[in-house]
Amino acid sequence: MDTAAITPTLRWTGDSIEIIDQTRLPGELVLLDVRDVGSAVDAIERLAIRGAPALGVFGALALVVGLDEAQPDSLDAARELLEWLRHEIGDARPTAVNLRWAVDRTIDAALAVPELISAGTNTSDGGRGSADGDSASAGGLAELRQRLLDEALAIGAEDARACAEIGRLGRELLADATVIATHCNAGRLATVGTGTALGVVYAKAAAGEPVRVLAAETRPLLQGARLTAWELADAGIEVSVVADAAMASLIAAGEVDAVIVGADRIAANGDTANKVGTLAHALAAADAGIGFYIAAPTSTIDAALPSGECIAIEQRNPDEVHHAGGTRLTPVDAVAVNPAFDVTPARFITAIITDAGVLQPPYDRSIAQALAGAEPAGSGAGRC
Ligand code: MRU
Repeated sequence: MDTAAITPTLRWTGDSIEIIDQTRLPGELVLLDVRDVGSAVDAIERLAIRGAPALGVFGALALVVGLDEAQPDSLDAARELLEWLRHEIGDARPTAVNLRWAVDRTIDAALAVPELISAGTNTSDGGRGSADGDSASAGGLAELRQRLLDEALAIGAEDARACAEIGRLGRELLADATVIATHCNAGRLATVGTGTALGVVYAKAAAGEPVRVLAAETRPLLQGARLTAWELADAGIEVSVVADAAMASLIAAGEVDAVIVGADRIAANGDTANKVGTLAHALAAADAGIGFYIAAPTSTIDAALPSGECIAIEQRNPDEVHHAGGTRLTPVDAVAVNPAFDVTPARFITAIITDAGVLQPPYDRSIAQALAGAEPAGSGAGRC
């Protein structure tokens, strides 16, 4: 079986987005055909598609789906629709900066065309009634759709290139590491490339270096046990799933060479939000004196937020904590809280492996240098 390698996490079919339904893994490889906004938002919210970079590409493509579904009859109506989609899709999950960033970037790029703007406003009836107005509007709408699609696909291509570069740099940096611990899933299933944290693992394997992954199971939704284990096993890479609570003792016992995780949002000072449970591994790594690395594209850096305290943490349905595999674990009158992410302070992060280089502390300086000249990913979704 070579399913992970041959089935893309997401794919533009021409008029819809085909995704692997990650809620069904590892039991079944089920593909979902997303062709309306309701299904797109639902897929994001229930984690059928997930992982910060994949969410960004999916959200951007979902704008095209939204345009096709609504069939606006003028450019003004299309612009109004896109402003609604900016929030409806872009804010469907709040912590992963890539989602709102990609949605903003795609809408803004598509609308930033003088010809398009004049096609919508210079017709005698505003593009609504006359034959001339109808054809100008239809041409403008077709161009708008093409521009949305081009930008969304460009974001996908950039993500794939970023993964490859992160893998290359991470392999160089971690040439001596054989046993790598990770949390959640920051692999093929979370990106449209080879992954970020797992991109490093794949690069090591491709270079013929010995590598073994300890995947923390990642309660409550088990992205480590279900997804990281699935894609690594599928790629023929040795993987052992460990209970989240077991990782610290394995690190303390000297059984881990390095920890590498992905990121959902990195503040300007290097504080990093990632799947809840990440912080515990960082603390254990710091105590044991092994490296704790973040692997993420520069599109995950939110330079608009000065520190991790400003990062909005998604609070999910407590039922995810109450249940496992469809079985209720907790007494019916028990209360659960379910923060989906935690923030690892920059002081516990050995380096941040990005497509713009390996960033070293102090991160406020190295991040600013890495982003110099780049479009900031800040979405304004933070709490500061
Ligand atoms: O809730 P999820 O599964 O979307 O959380 C995903 C993570 O925390 C990943 O580590 C992060 O998005 C980086 S993916 C390259």
